[in-house]
Amino acid sequence: MNKFVKMNIDPMKTKELISTANSIVSNHKGLLAMDESLPTANKRFAKLEIPQTEEMRRAYRELLATTPGLGEFISGAILFDETIRQKTKDGRPIVKVLADAGIIPGIKVDTGAKEMAGRPGEKITEGLDGLRERLVEYYRMGARFAKWRVVITIGDNIPSRTCLEANAHALARYAALCQETGLVPVVEPEVLMDGDHTLEQCFEVTEEVLRTVFNQLFLQGVMLEGMILKPNMIVPGLKCTKQETAEEVADATVKCFRRAVPAAVPGITFLSGGQSAELASDRLNAMNQRFKSKLPWELSFSYGRALQQPALEIWRGDNANAEKAQKALYHRSKCNYAARRGEYSSKMEKEI
Ligand code: 13P
Repeated sequence: MNKFVKMNIDPMKTKELISTANSIVSNHKGLLAMDESLPTANKRFAKLEIPQTEEMRRAYRELLATTPGLGEFISGAILFDETIRQKTKDGRPIVKVLADAGIIPGIKVDTGAKEMAGRPGEKITEGLDGLRERLVEYYRMGARFAKWRVVITIGDNIPSRTCLEANAHALARYAALCQETGLVPVVEPEVLMDGDHTLEQCFEVTEEVLRTVFNQLFLQGVMLEGMILKPNMIVPGLKCTKQETAEEVADATVKCFRRAVPAAVPGITFLSGGQSAELASDRLNAMNQRFKSKLPWELSFSYGRALQQPALEIWRGDNANAEKAQKALYHRSKCNYAARRGEYSSKMEKEI
């Protein structure tokens, strides 16, 4: 890297970043995304007629974080600002509960995707103003990694280069600020599954998105060994009439990532993006079964809905269902832990 591009990071911080990034993807574990913003959390609650209050969100997140044995399969959990400040009913900070279970606390730091000026259908993720100060505070609170999500929509004449470059630039500036603070950036460019586009179209757009993002990460001097990539898989749109098999999705995803993701990145933790829980496990499994020994990076998960949804549907706001809901989260985590080794099968679904 040329001396004008390289970031000046304290050597101790560099060591810490590399160590945290590797811990996130080691031992076949993955991330639990439990960082839904207030509007998203409330939307998911509303569908199940769960009251949309701060106390209900706290109780739900306590349920997730206190799941017995979760640390066997989950290396880190991504929290929302509200949650990182909350405590369990008996007064223990949620961050401490996670850390005690061997789960690294992480934090969502973008402030959401907003309509892009004069570009209908396209979004730009905001949150850079004041970010350095917020990162310092989160690090003091115990967070060791952070997430920033960008959303890219496939549609008529979109995404535009304008949208890709602007979002990639913001992602890279966020990632550089994270590394300066000692937080591992989880860089999330999400090409949405909404629409009727084909797998090939998803491939083409995702390759361009990833190349644009890594170009900007290079320009900002981000250390690839101390970051994690959180992308979409290469899948057809939800309304596309042709839905490929898990093996075809695995082949296309690995082909795309081999082209666009540098080998120095320690791990790729996929988002689930609206796939069913079982499909998300099956596709991750197919990738690891076919390619695990031949890839430079770990292929892991950072699922939100695909880990949580069954548990949320069991809980439904009633703590009498808490234990059963925790078992469902434990089970999904175990399935994805197996998928990381290429050892998941639909038979596992009968264990619960
Ligand atoms: P899903 O797995 O539900 O897509 O959530 C992952 C995430 O963190 C999105 O930002």
